Amino acid sequence: MTTSDAATAAYIIAALLFILSLAGLSKHETARRGLTFGIVGMIIALAATLVLVIDASGALAVSLLIVAMALGAVVGLVRAARVEMTGMPQLIALLHSFVGLGAVLVGWNGYLDKGGVAANLVRIHHAEVFIGVFIGAVTVTGSIVAFLKLSARIGSAPLTLPGKSALNLGALVVFVALTAWFVASPNIWLLVAVTVLALALGWHLVASIGGGDMPVVVSMLNSYSGWAAAASGFLLNNDLLIVTGALVGSSGAYLSYIMCKAMNRSFLSVIAGGFGIEAVAGADTQDGEHREISAAETAELLENASSVVITPGYGMAVAQAQYPVAALVSTLRVRGVQVRFGIHPVAGRLPGHMNVLLAEAKVPYDIVLEMDEINDDFADTSVVLVIGANDTVNPAAKDPGSPIAGMPVLRVWEAENVIVFKRSMAAGYAGVQNPLFFRENTQMLFGDAKERVQDIVRALDRESVH
Ligand code: TAP
Repeated sequence: MTTSDAATAAYIIAALLFILSLAGLSKHETARRGLTFGIVGMIIALAATLVLVIDASGALAVSLLIVAMALGAVVGLVRAARVEMTGMPQLIALLHSFVGLGAVLVGWNGYLDKGGVAANLVRIHHAEVFIGVFIGAVTVTGSIVAFLKLSARIGSAPLTLPGKSALNLGALVVFVALTAWFVASPNIWLLVAVTVLALALGWHLVASIGGGDMPVVVSMLNSYSGWAAAASGFLLNNDLLIVTGALVGSSGAYLSYIMCKAMNRSFLSVIAGGFGIEAVAGADTQDGEHREISAAETAELLENASSVVITPGYGMAVAQAQYPVAALVSTLRVRGVQVRFGIHPVAGRLPGHMNVLLAEAKVPYDIVLEMDEINDDFADTSVVLVIGANDTVNPAAKDPGSPIAGMPVLRVWEAENVIVFKRSMAAGYAGVQNPLFFRENTQMLFGDAKERVQDIVRALDRESVH
């Protein structure tokens, strides 16, 4: 068996492990096993690649590769160890931009180093270079804008340049024309032009998307980074990179499709950079008077309630309030109050964000319900506790002129009493003011969610001592 045969066999095993990993990650019971499969697959893939590099380029090349990998691994380990759960989405967006950058560099290298390309394959090679650089460059700037928006370094409101859809479509048409030109006559300036065009397009596509649609963007960029890796695989003649890139690309695209369905968005309009979504002036301004409530008064209301629903959101993650929330749930359940959770599909900043936090605090799974399972029950609920949620409980979604129009939300306002836990009257991630705060049956409990829930638990405990 030659080294190349052994590497191909190792690549097939690694590809199978990646498929098993994806399958495992689809359910929380098997997620840990799925991760193990992924890690083992990656170790096998890296070892096989190192063996191939030694065979083809000698010990010096492999030493350089090991130094580069060690540096990358140290930076990655330090960042991953330090990142807070709430900082995960922006870290993932940043990592996507590295995959895109890798594809751009591989594409440029493929252009400058034409050695080894058979004469009859030169045109295909040129097309691969051009397409790889285009997808990679769109991913680089798109991911950087997503990183800036998710980490609140820039505002989450959509950029609305005049004729933005025409700009995106025009850029695609220019890309197709440049590709044909480059295949016929591979001039370096055409490659420079497509790199600049794709960097601008990636920036514009993601900047045009409003905060409420960011979950779809993150999974879409995940998909783009997969296709960028697959394009690099073609250029480097690496089958495993093609298979892995295609796996990431298609699973990311499917996740985006599921998210669009959950949020009642058109898949095509979101990937086309928020086509048809226009910014609404004054969407974040206040309208009306709000009423406040104290933690002690909330405790009293909860004591006399027959059923309570908790709808957590990003603020629960920021405050790390899941542990006192779990304590509040047990206190109320001991007193015979029915307590359940209503989880919106995009609550927080990651798919399944709230489920992970509640599982961490050992809240029983059977009282954690999805939005569709709980929405019809709000009308028969005594008290809803909205803990750090905003966009996901915003009745403005019913208003056709709103930037979040059409997004399904938790209909908390149908309950008898709604208590909103937050620190101020500020708008949610989508930048849209929430009319829920001004409803007659709503009261605001201001302050850090963790501290306020702890106050309520203490007040309930005091009551039970007396
Ligand atoms: P948001 O609309 O983001 O609102 C969170 C609220 O929590 C804010 O209004 C904030 O108000 C409050 N808050 C923050 N820190 C707090 C603290 N320490 N204590 C108490 N309250 C605190 O939350 P949501 O309802 O979960 O909606 C999620 C949004 O993120 C949606 O627009 C969604 O599209 C978007 N998004 C989701 C994802 C995924 S996959 N889930 C990914 C990207 C974007 P104050 O500042 O006044 O306290």
